[in-house]
Amino acid sequence: MNAKEQGECGDASRGQFNSRLGFVLAAAGSAVGLGNLWRFPYLTYKYGGAGADAGGAGTFVIVYLACIALVCLPLILAEILVGKRGRRNPVGSFNAIRPGTRWNIVGYLGIATGFLILSYYAVVAGWSIEYTYKSLVNEFAGFETAIPDEEAGQALAAEFISSHPGTDDAVALESARTAAGSPEAFNTRLLAKKAELHPQHLFSQFVANPVKQVGYFLAFMLLTVILVLGGVAGGIERGNKVMMPLLLLMLIVLAIRVLTLEGGGRIIGYLFKPSLSTLSWDLVLAAMGQAFFSLSVGMGALLTYGSYLGPKDRIETASAAIPAIDASVALLASIVVCGAIISFGLAMSGSGTGNVFTAIPVIFQSIPGGRWLVVLFYLLVTLAALTSTISLLEVVASYMIDERKMKRTRAVLLSAAAISAVGVICALSFNLLSGYTLFGMTFFDMLDYICSNIALPVGGILIAIFVGWVMRHEEKREELVCMNPIIYRVWNVLLKFLAPAAILAVLIGQFVFRS
Ligand code: TRP
Repeated sequence: MNAKEQGECGDASRGQFNSRLGFVLAAAGSAVGLGNLWRFPYLTYKYGGAGADAGGAGTFVIVYLACIALVCLPLILAEILVGKRGRRNPVGSFNAIRPGTRWNIVGYLGIATGFLILSYYAVVAGWSIEYTYKSLVNEFAGFETAIPDEEAGQALAAEFISSHPGTDDAVALESARTAAGSPEAFNTRLLAKKAELHPQHLFSQFVANPVKQVGYFLAFMLLTVILVLGGVAGGIERGNKVMMPLLLLMLIVLAIRVLTLEGGGRIIGYLFKPSLSTLSWDLVLAAMGQAFFSLSVGMGALLTYGSYLGPKDRIETASAAIPAIDASVALLASIVVCGAIISFGLAMSGSGTGNVFTAIPVIFQSIPGGRWLVVLFYLLVTLAALTSTISLLEVVASYMIDERKMKRTRAVLLSAAAISAVGVICALSFNLLSGYTLFGMTFFDMLDYICSNIALPVGGILIAIFVGWVMRHEEKREELVCMNPIIYRVWNVLLKFLAPAAILAVLIGQFVFRS
């Protein structure tokens, strides 16, 4: 290595380090959000179920991690590279690198995907506002009177039957009473059951209320618009430096709490022990979609961040740091949420869409000072969601500004209005429109499915082909001056062959072998 190369590739100067760290934090802030805290625990539970030893959750987690390492990791580098070289929004960057070709379609697809993701993402983000409020006024505390004795008794009876198969329905409650030992002991169990059932009730009542759903959704959109317009977005990104470590710290504390519960250690086997018999196309597709969604890859969000980098900035380390941070947050969230569900034997209704909203209050009730920690927790969820909605709105708006020559205010307001129109339907699909389903999915489920399981992976294939096959080595090397030649070659091969082939196989398999 000659002296010049050493200057460019050796230990970075302080200035470079700062900008690189800033980039990693901004990109990680976009990646870490409801995908990690809400969607990942909800999907692991969906595939794992209440049975702690079935292996479904383990299979899901392993496939998810494999997708990150083999498919998403190379794609992240590719996507950032396109932005860094194109120096524009998704459409503009493809135009700049291959002018006059149709490759800008990848950019259009990405912008449409971002539009749709934001429309349902902000609905769930709205839930986090309500939950911050609920925790502030301590709504989780009124469980003694909120749940009738009878209902808690039924739940205990059902629990008794599941642990003593073959018990007659009619005598289950009596048997549970006897098994408790004393009337006092049974009463304690009854009270504990009420405390568990209460958050579930609060949640189903909340999503069943159309006015609240639409109201909170619009409130969150408004908050996003204000921050994007006010240029406060940069401040929020800087706030990441404090919020991200704080969120991580809280998750670690909660994870320790869950792991030290009686039987809490079982969650490790639940999350990491796969079983082949649970492997299905459906599971693989969901795991891949989750990897794309959680890493914000496949639609040009990372591309847009890459476009803010200077020509000398290095992107290899950042590309590896983003998935590492993102996957750690997701796994911790699942340990906490699924671990609590299993250890406390929490009742889950439906598919468990609201896991993070029903399980968290229960764990906090068992921690000293939990009353206030839970406020902090939901506040962090809200802020994590906000950094993601900002990045989504920014992608749509920046396209309108650059390519449609709109003024910033107009572009932001117009995009947000259109997104809100679609989002209102998502918000109503939990109540007024819950009866309208297609393939068993509501409008909300359908959008989520199409965006994460189809649109992002298809975007991923196209980006892989573009960078793997269309861009020349010299072009790529110019952006990756310092990358180790062997790693470069491995990356190129993954990008050219494995990533597109794997994504295509999963997508086709889903439709051909759909049971
Ligand atoms: N990755 C974010 C999360 O996990 C959501 C998100 C933000 C996103 N920007 C995106 C997803 C762009 C896909 C594409 O919550």
